[in-house]
Amino acid sequence: MGRLNDQVVLVTGAGSGMGKVIAEMFVHEGARVALLDSRPDGLEETANQIRQGHGEDSALALHCDVTNEDDVKTAITTTVNHYGKLTVLYNNAGIMPEADHSVVDTDAQVWDAVQNVNLKGVYLVCKYGIPQLIAAGGGSVINIASFVALVGCSVPQDSYTASKGAVIALTKSLAAQFGAKGVRANAICPGPIETPLLMEWLLTDPEAKALRLARIPLGRFGKPEDVGHLAIYLASKESSWMTGAELSLDGGITSFYF
Ligand SMILES: NC(=O)c1ccc[n+]([C@@H]2O[C@H](COP(=O)([O-])OP(=O)(O)OC[C@H]3O[C@@H](n4cnc5c(N)ncnc54)[C@H](O)[C@@H]3O)[C@@H](O)[C@H]2O)c1
Repeated sequence: MGRLNDQVVLVTGAGSGMGKVIAEMFVHEGARVALLDSRPDGLEETANQIRQGHGEDSALALHCDVTNEDDVKTAITTTVNHYGKLTVLYNNAGIMPEADHSVVDTDAQVWDAVQNVNLKGVYLVCKYGIPQLIAAGGGSVINIASFVALVGCSVPQDSYTASKGAVIALTKSLAAQFGAKGVRANAICPGPIETPLLMEWLLTDPEAKALRLARIPLGRFGKPEDVGHLAIYLASKESSWMTGAELSLDGGITSFYF
């Protein structure tokens, strides 16, 4: 018996990185997943991988730009028509462009692009998704924020940081509004996770890698599976008394001074 039997989970940004790994972990626990991504290649790859291991009906691949209201509306309607309901929103799609730096040297266009994906995307998925969770008798919203929303960083990515802080604030508002209707909302704040992009960069810069590892009491970067285990808990009934939480998952970075 999987911990997520009977759950239908919508995963944004499922075409690469953490979304790809965690979508399969949800299915492994018995859920069916609607995979959303704006990049069709990665999306199909994730869907094929999941279907090969878990059957044709385990995953639905939906091309969707989370900043586009029509795309999001259509993706959610298609999911509900296909699986009959929607019970978990996993808001994972996010961008972190290099050009997002300090407020004093970031172009307004770059600032807006980051806010659009990281914050407006969460708003749109919640706008159309939460009424479906209520219609299903309750559900769980899981928003992926970041440890950078909790502590300052001298290597700035200010739009990213601000967007993730806003995601935490929005999560608490959702928890307060929809708890009585059986909808819980929690935010995960991961530290640096070993995704291909981060590892590629750190491979070329051993100094940057050592500097970062020295700030992690548990002495390693996170793995997508570390986030996946917490996400499964938040998606399942095991967490039925948890809502409005911002959960640090960062090897101890945010509790560390010296
Ligand atoms: N990797 C880390 O170290 C880390 C740490 C803390 C938080 N996070 C957060 O975790 C989430 C996943 O990060 P990742 O490292 O796996 O990223 P990633 O870049 O590997 O994957 C993000 C996915 O989102 C998709 N995406 C981007 N814009 C989109 C849009 N407009 N509509 C739909 N899909 C879109 C991309 O195509 C991609 O498949 C992000 O929200 C990120 O900010 C990552």
